[in-house]
Amino acid sequence: MTQDELKQAVARAARDYVAAHLPAGGILGVGTGSTANFFIDELAAIKDRIGGAVASSEATQKRLEGHGIRVLDLNDVDAMAIYVDGADEIDASFAMVKGGGGALTREKIVAAVAQTFVCICDGSKRVATMGKFPLPVEVIPMARAYVARELTKLGGAPKLRAGFTTDNGNVILDVHGLSITDPAGLETQIDQIVGVVTNGLFAHRGADVLLLGTAGGVQTHSR
Ligand code: 5RP
Repeated sequence: MTQDELKQAVARAARDYVAAHLPAGGILGVGTGSTANFFIDELAAIKDRIGGAVASSEATQKRLEGHGIRVLDLNDVDAMAIYVDGADEIDASFAMVKGGGGALTREKIVAAVAQTFVCICDGSKRVATMGKFPLPVEVIPMARAYVARELTKLGGAPKLRAGFTTDNGNVILDVHGLSITDPAGLETQIDQIVGVVTNGLFAHRGADVLLLGTAGGVQTHSR
């Protein structure tokens, strides 16, 4: 199976998960990226069961609306049963590296509100130790050089994502060369650097359910 076929299979499994677990008329959070896009396309088939969706990016909002799915402002939502999103890496504790698509801040905000985080990804994303995928860090533009120096002190090699501005008007530093043995500790440490908006470690709020696309079928893992 190709990677896209695995993503497609996992997107279908996520649609079935939502159909089975989202209370009728419930609010669903929707992530960003190619796997999330497959999921949004599948979601169209069950859109009448959903009270509304909260998007984690402008791109996701556009795609949801393209399918006639009602998109809500997070500030108008009191509770969200499920958040579905992809990941760049996920470890055995269900901590993730996210933000390859640059939507990490809004993803983290929407995920914080959700009761259950369902991570959808193909088998290549499951790793023993995270860090091979460069860790995205969203930074206020005027703090870019300072934050880069501080990230270097932590042992990483930050690289500005060229020509990219986040939906929030900020820049991304992709930090190469990390071996992330303490995801929660590093998440806290990076967030404490002045000028950092968010980093792509989702350890304090990791996934609850992992739908993993493999050649043998989609596996469901729970924390
Ligand atoms: C976007 C993300 C994505 O979930 C992550 O990059 C995975 O993307 P894809 O499904 O395209 O592999 O965090 O900010």
